[in-house]
Amino acid sequence: MNYSEAKKVLEANGQGYVLDFWGKLGVKARKSLLAQIATIDFTELARCRSMLPAFVCSKAEKPCVKRVAAPTAPKVAELKGKAYASAVTAGAKELSAGRVGVLLVAGGQGSRLGYEGPKGAYPIGPVTDKPLFHFHARKVLAKTLKYGKSVPFYVMTSEANYDATVACFKENGWFGLDRKDIFFFKQGMWPGMTEDGKIILDEPGHVFMSPDGHGGLLAALKNSGALADMKKRGVKSVFFFQVDNPLVEIADEAFIGYHVQSKSEYSLKLCAKRDPFEKVGMPMKFGNVCKMVEYTEMTDEQCKRKGKDGKLYFLYGSPAIHVFDRAFLEREAMKPMPLHLAHKKIAYLDDNGEVVKPSAPNAYKFEKFIFDILPDAKKVAFLAFDQKEEFSPVKNAEGSDSPATCKADMQAKWRRQLAERGILIDGDAVLEVDPCSL
Ligand code: UD1
Repeated sequence: MNYSEAKKVLEANGQGYVLDFWGKLGVKARKSLLAQIATIDFTELARCRSMLPAFVCSKAEKPCVKRVAAPTAPKVAELKGKAYASAVTAGAKELSAGRVGVLLVAGGQGSRLGYEGPKGAYPIGPVTDKPLFHFHARKVLAKTLKYGKSVPFYVMTSEANYDATVACFKENGWFGLDRKDIFFFKQGMWPGMTEDGKIILDEPGHVFMSPDGHGGLLAALKNSGALADMKKRGVKSVFFFQVDNPLVEIADEAFIGYHVQSKSEYSLKLCAKRDPFEKVGMPMKFGNVCKMVEYTEMTDEQCKRKGKDGKLYFLYGSPAIHVFDRAFLEREAMKPMPLHLAHKKIAYLDDNGEVVKPSAPNAYKFEKFIFDILPDAKKVAFLAFDQKEEFSPVKNAEGSDSPATCKADMQAKWRRQLAERGILIDGDAVLEVDPCSL
């Protein structure tokens, strides 16, 4: 993109001021600003702008409130006895045939944890300080070794943590995986916007941009060629998980098998919430349509509501462990996704090119969430599991969902797994087990 092309597209979209400081920029800064402008999808930008409160309300000329049906709790299956065994057999068949791929979203910033690098590089091994990525990748390797078929591992990063993520894998010998079976790809970045729909310069030659959320996955899978790679390899079921949960059972046979047996396009593992206000999303039914409702959107009444059995009515939360049909992801990648707005403090330049750091939220960031494709799935399946076995995320530096609670949960699980094999470990010993040895 050259200067006149950039000027034309910016002006056509009411963003011409982005080039206001052009005269003051050196050659390198000019080149990098043009390169940045070339990455902006102006159709999506117009959609972001139309979502801003100022624009939504002025268009509607009435309060932006929609009437929605009262939500109900969806039916959640529990696999036991023969049903469990049959799902395991079905899942093993998929893995033996090489029809399963694994997808990790690792583009988040780990700001709550206060960790600088990619969250996946966070040292979680209780004895060795091995990173979160180690525990994930070694589980993928364990499946590859067990079935003698490669399980391709798709790792989504952000622009900011791509290099550090690849470096972490490389330094660790790709955790034993064949390099050809790991596909790193980057999610997109979106400009932030002022309340009146202007994109923001945070330096004279730089537009403020932030990652487009884990829902950016769909566009990124398509644009990077990852979806095409899945198809070429014959992958039909895609196991999805988040970087912060080292307890996850990656591509476990029962879940893959249940997904295939249910002929579901999108299956979700769910677990009973530890308390009514646990910070997890919850799938709910609105009429016949299932949607994920984030914990921030639930009312106190919904959180505390009890069913006839005395248990929480909305009992099951989502640890973000999913299986998608590859074909469903392909279909969804062709459509625009819903947008979520976050009102934030974003530094900007004044008319003289000086940086202003606002003391209150002044602008919006935009994100897409992958679970927003839930209503589009022709068939959805929900499977219950035991939280202590598979979900202990590292979110906060201290307190709940912290490295300390996660390490304790990892060790308790290893103790149980070893005990099942007749190996009893001294109660006080600090323990770590390589997922490939289980
Ligand atoms: C998320 C879910 C919540 C779920 C909970 C389970 C959302 C909005 N909420 O909450 O429903 O119950 O996890 O732990 O997702 N990521 C990217 N790119 C981004 C943003 C995030 O790849 O632009 C990745 C992160 O690296 C992480 C995952 O998405 O692996 C979740 O992000 P995070 O911000 O930690 O979500 P939570 O608010 O904890």
